[in-house]
Amino acid sequence: MAIVGERVRCFVAPSDESYRPPAFHGFPTTLPTVESDGLVTLKIRPHSLAKLEAVGRYCNAFARALKRRWATTYVDLYAGPGVLELEGGKLTWGSPMIALQCADPFNSLVLVEMQPQRANVLLQRARRIARRGEEVCIIQGEAEKTLDDVLRRIPVGSVALTLIDPFRLEFSLEAMATLAGSGKKMDLILLFAEGMDLRRNLQNAIRSAPGSDRFDKVFGGPEWRDLVQPQNPPARNAVLLRKLYLDRLRRLGFDHLGREVVVKNSSNVPVYLLMYATRNPLGVRLWDSCTKSSQLELFT
Ligand SMILES: C[S@@+](CC[C@H](N)C(=O)[O-])C[C@H]1O[C@@H](n2cnc3c(N)ncnc32)[C@H](O)[C@@H]1O
Repeated sequence: MAIVGERVRCFVAPSDESYRPPAFHGFPTTLPTVESDGLVTLKIRPHSLAKLEAVGRYCNAFARALKRRWATTYVDLYAGPGVLELEGGKLTWGSPMIALQCADPFNSLVLVEMQPQRANVLLQRARRIARRGEEVCIIQGEAEKTLDDVLRRIPVGSVALTLIDPFRLEFSLEAMATLAGSGKKMDLILLFAEGMDLRRNLQNAIRSAPGSDRFDKVFGGPEWRDLVQPQNPPARNAVLLRKLYLDRLRRLGFDHLGREVVVKNSSNVPVYLLMYATRNPLGVRLWDSCTKSSQLELFT
């Protein structure tokens, strides 16, 4: 294993001719069942399964659609430990392990996780599962601070699919601009924590000094505050801010936006949504076809 600096651990997986990937059709439901390996997991709520299904469907379709003409790189900036755990103990694959097991392999994967223990177990799991000659780099660090490292590890000529999946709204517009300005061909899937964060914390954020709140960083400055109308219900203000955010993405150059996938909890309350952005209109067609709502129930 090559160790570059202290935080970055990379390996090239063996090419195992006997490896049989999960079937393309129906992926990610065709993934093997997760067996407990005794390593740390991340607890999730059932609604996260809808997110994983949408991400898995798109990864799988992306890797297949591009493989004839392009090398592909999967980037996960908030990667987690690789195995997730539902209440009751049922285990399910996390996003990086789903990407590692798509029917067609990504040529390289760059996985960022801040928490050392999660980064370590992710490395162990990736080494166990990767079997198709992929280059896998695990960077233990904060997503925004590692962007230079991340971008350097996307090979020239490779098309990247980047997942940004934080617990709350925190990935700054400045960091998004770094991705946009990198010159890399890149599709983005972004968790926009509208219900679980933006709506709930809007009132506190608006009372803070302009420039001091994390929402100021997310929206690229304090101007978002002008959109918030005190007489509006929080849900209405949150929708206005979502539109502002989408507009910001467009202006950065991610000017083709896919359908927004709304993820609801078991009480049917929207928790967050997945945004998809790219420079390539074909990407939108693929995302939209992968995320038709009627299909997003299979993984549970
Ligand atoms: C919602 S979980 C990601 C789950 C993962 N995408 C999956 O589906 O399996 C968010 C992860 O990001 C990590 N994290 C939190 N803040 C981070 C940061 N600033 N940079 C990188 N990772 C971070 C957390 O430790 C956690 O494991």
